[in-house]
Amino acid sequence: MSLLESARAVRENAYVPYSRFKVGAAIRGASGAVHVGCNVENVAYPEGTCAEAGAIAAMVAAGETVITEVCVIADSPVPVTPCGGCRQKLAEFAAADVPVTLATTDGLTRRTTVGEMLPGAFDQAQMDRA
Ligand code: THU
Repeated sequence: MSLLESARAVRENAYVPYSRFKVGAAIRGASGAVHVGCNVENVAYPEGTCAEAGAIAAMVAAGETVITEVCVIADSPVPVTPCGGCRQKLAEFAAADVPVTLATTDGLTRRTTVGEMLPGAFDQAQMDRA
């Protein structure tokens, strides 16, 4: 199954009683394994989690900390783009040149990279004097 197919499949499990907006994310780890996540909302709205965060948590739980590829899919008019927080979360585990495929359920895709999505990212080097 391709990364896109994995993201499409896990999207079906999204728990979205409030937004009704299902998102699926699949990330490939350096081992080659695919880790998936979907958004999980909560009646206390800020406690909901994004699909990307779920996939990252699954990857780390599986013992991996290096992302080599990302795919996110939703039923949106244009390919869904990760929120600011998820861009920072992805940048924690992915190099700037890691490819990202953003997709709609009806077949539109846009290719970008983790670095393009988060220019000027805060990173460890900025804490060098601490
Ligand atoms: N959402 C994601 O899971 N990932 C994205 O990239 C964009 C937004 C979720 C959060 C919330 O459950 C719903 O989509 C509407 O914001």
